[in-house]
Amino acid sequence: MAETQQLAKETSENNTVTLIDNATGKQVTMPVLDGTEGPRVIDIRKLYQETGMFTFDPGFTSTGSCESGLTFIDGDVGTLMHCGYSIDELAEKSDFLEVCYLLLNGELPNKAQMEEFEYAITRHSMIHEQLHSFYHGFRRDAHPMAIMVGVVGALSAFYHDSTDIRDEHQRMIASRRLIAKMPTIAAWAYKYSIGQPMIYPRNDLNYAENFLHMIQATPCENYEVNPILARAMDRIFILHADHEQNASTSTVRLAGSSQANPFACIAAGIACLWGPAHGGANEAVLKMLDEIGSKDRVGSYIKRAKDKDDPFRLMGFGHRVYKNYDPRAKVMRETCHEVLDFLGIKDEPYLDLAMDLERIATEDEYFVEKKLYPNVDFYSGIILRAMGFPTTMFTVIFALARTVGWIAQWKEMIEDPVQKIGRPRQLYNGYSHRPYVPLDQRG
Ligand code: CMC
Repeated sequence: MAETQQLAKETSENNTVTLIDNATGKQVTMPVLDGTEGPRVIDIRKLYQETGMFTFDPGFTSTGSCESGLTFIDGDVGTLMHCGYSIDELAEKSDFLEVCYLLLNGELPNKAQMEEFEYAITRHSMIHEQLHSFYHGFRRDAHPMAIMVGVVGALSAFYHDSTDIRDEHQRMIASRRLIAKMPTIAAWAYKYSIGQPMIYPRNDLNYAENFLHMIQATPCENYEVNPILARAMDRIFILHADHEQNASTSTVRLAGSSQANPFACIAAGIACLWGPAHGGANEAVLKMLDEIGSKDRVGSYIKRAKDKDDPFRLMGFGHRVYKNYDPRAKVMRETCHEVLDFLGIKDEPYLDLAMDLERIATEDEYFVEKKLYPNVDFYSGIILRAMGFPTTMFTVIFALARTVGWIAQWKEMIEDPVQKIGRPRQLYNGYSHRPYVPLDQRG
């Protein structure tokens, strides 16, 4: 990672852009930085100091908020890489814990490193027994994402020995604890919602198997984890592991920039992920397919999605960065077919509807012109539903898998020597100063 940052600086030396204020004729020259990949970046850090002006970029459509060596997306081509490795290759050849190691350390592990990491994650999967009682404070019908925000936030009240963010060892322990405990926390949120006993993790199972075991097993009988479904689960985790500076990751970074503890920061990320414009879209896709109901109604929903006066949007379509097919959606669609074939599901009405919707939308002028393609959330819900998960668990699974991305980005930020508290400015459009009017004199 240090190497990447070095490269970025070396190639930028003679690159500048000059901004002219047409009102005063004043010019200001700013450096342009080149990363190892991606668009060039104007370094505006001295802009306010030199001109007294801020930039205005609601939604951060033209703003790079940090330097990062973890994930690169080429939205025009539709590619995604973690530390240089393409997502297709990782989904095919790697497994989730190896991807976790890669994101946390910047390199793939050797055999001994992998064994140590797997051992550590497997043996940190239990949560403090007192957290068990914490669940009982929630209503049974609470959305499991609400439980996730609460329980993950509460980890900071249980693991005081890994909240000192200046201590490298504590940062490592907190990262591993979060990755290890998230499946248990997520599975227990589910078990609580259906009134079944919580199932403890098992050290003889791998990460994905263990999650499925804690979701599907009951104390009454032996439960055998299906290896094909466990592999599909693992691939879903890989596809969600990290995604550059998206809304929830930026939330985690912003929360962490105030030096808040890592558990609190991840809870903030979970809260942000929940929204339907972000991770909540996988749940929203199934709700939408449910509402559409049959193929003959697809056309009318496409029409609604194009209507400026209708707030309806095609869920699972469109992306801020991808202006091409989301590479994760491609793998997700293949996995979807594999899982349905394996489960012997011949006619899955949701899949038929989704494929019809995709075909019509990708041929429609509106979607073609705006470059709106299926994103990662479009097919994931159909797989998860076929595997027996209720829709309310879809975003929880996204949060579980994204935890590694959040914590790796948080760690990268804390270790960045130029890190500062995140503090954007604004274009104020309220009243200028006015005198206070006492209550009895107001109209
Ligand atoms: N259906 C219909 N029109 C759309 C859609 C859609 N799904 N997405 C974007 N548009 C239109 C939008 O109306 C706008 O049109 P115009 O230029 O005429 O005003 C144009 O496309 C650009 O959209 P935008 O909202 O300015 O783009 P954005 O980058 O701010 O939003 C998005 C990206 C993902 C929030 C948006 O595409 C969307 O709401 N999609 C549906 C929700 C969804 O699937 N979210 C999951 C994203 S991927 C996983 C994740 O991030 O967690």
